Amino acid sequence: MKRIFTDCRVVAMDSPVNDIDGYQVKEHCNIAVENGVITAVGENLTTEGYNEVVSLHGRLVTPGLIDSHTHLVYAGDRAAEFEMRLNGVPYEEISRRGGGILSTVKATRQASEQELTDLAIPRAKALMRDGVTTIEIKSGYGLTLDDELKMLRAARNVAKALDVNITTTLLGAHAIPPEYQGHSDDYVDLVCEQMIPAAVAENLADAVDVFCESIAFTPAQCGRVFEAAQAHGLKIKGHTEQLTNQGGSALAARMGATSVEHVEYIDMVGVETLAKHDTVATLLPGAFYFLRETQKPPINLFRKNGVPMALATDFNPGTSPFASLTMMMNMGSTLFGLTPKENLYGVTRHAAQALGLHNKGQIAAGFDADFAVWDLNEPAQLSYQIGLPSLHARYLKGERSCD
Ligand code: NIG
Ligand code: FE
Repeated sequence: MKRIFTDCRVVAMDSPVNDIDGYQVKEHCNIAVENGVITAVGENLTTEGYNEVVSLHGRLVTPGLIDSHTHLVYAGDRAAEFEMRLNGVPYEEISRRGGGILSTVKATRQASEQELTDLAIPRAKALMRDGVTTIEIKSGYGLTLDDELKMLRAARNVAKALDVNITTTLLGAHAIPPEYQGHSDDYVDLVCEQMIPAAVAENLADAVDVFCESIAFTPAQCGRVFEAAQAHGLKIKGHTEQLTNQGGSALAARMGATSVEHVEYIDMVGVETLAKHDTVATLLPGAFYFLRETQKPPINLFRKNGVPMALATDFNPGTSPFASLTMMMNMGSTLFGLTPKENLYGVTRHAAQALGLHNKGQIAAGFDADFAVWDLNEPAQLSYQIGLPSLHARYLKGERSCD
């Protein structure tokens, strides 16, 4: 199938973020697509020899947005905890009292694979209405072999039910389950020796994530999980330096992680290690905002050291109940001082890098034809406004994607 999109204003993201050309709108462009892959982008491409010519009537076209960090498979909600926090109980304290992540674990264990799938689908659809064509979904609310696999199967079911690319991440090392309190190393054994091999055997996971934190797993434990993941051919990434500095970001980067996420408390050694290994720093302003944190990620250090920054929703019931990636772009600017250009890189090219997807996130020959088509004049409007429906269409591998 050969299709050509004509009269596009293309925001290609085809050069590095520091390169001024990368963000400039290419006017009056055509995009040629063959079998779902872009073959050429340019002003004077002939429309002869294509099965279909689709005019986009001068609309702005960006790569399809990529939400590179979500926890959108879960049951229950945490509105009561939200209320507790507003009555003065901190997130860490709620977690120590068995609330927090563990309360979602309880509800998720009780839910069936079908129930989890049914709950996840409208959340994914909400992201898609915002121009998202690829979503990463983590497990991490099951914390038993069966329940983690159940979550990953539900995530794969979302991919079957909707016109969206899903990548899945096993986050078995998300919290120490109640039955392993006081002997968390045994739980890490379970993650390494049972969950990872079982997820791989069923092709349920593309990557493995950990929560490296004082209330979760130590760097040594996370290192063991990463080794097991890599031994099974999976990519690695980490929730690191969200609440305290544990050195998890540097460890993950040294071991070849595609990305480290949150990173509010990362230090200079961490930043330099990310730069050295070209590891993406994924910023999650939704969680920062919702937990009313005050320590911001060191954006200027990332910039100075050339660390690629991604931006994601972290959609989850406890710290970021927000199903809008463009809202995160707004928060990237208003809370962290990112430019609208940096935000757009964060949800396209750098988000693809964070997921190790080398064929997505740009509009250039050889990349998948995943686009978002907008009724907007300028790309900066994506970061500027919240809640106005500005998406005209999404295309996935050159095919129009429906809601
Ligand atoms: O990314 N930091 C750990 N994990 C999630 C929170 C999950 C939860 O509170 O349910 C996060 O913020
Ligand atoms: Fe998260």
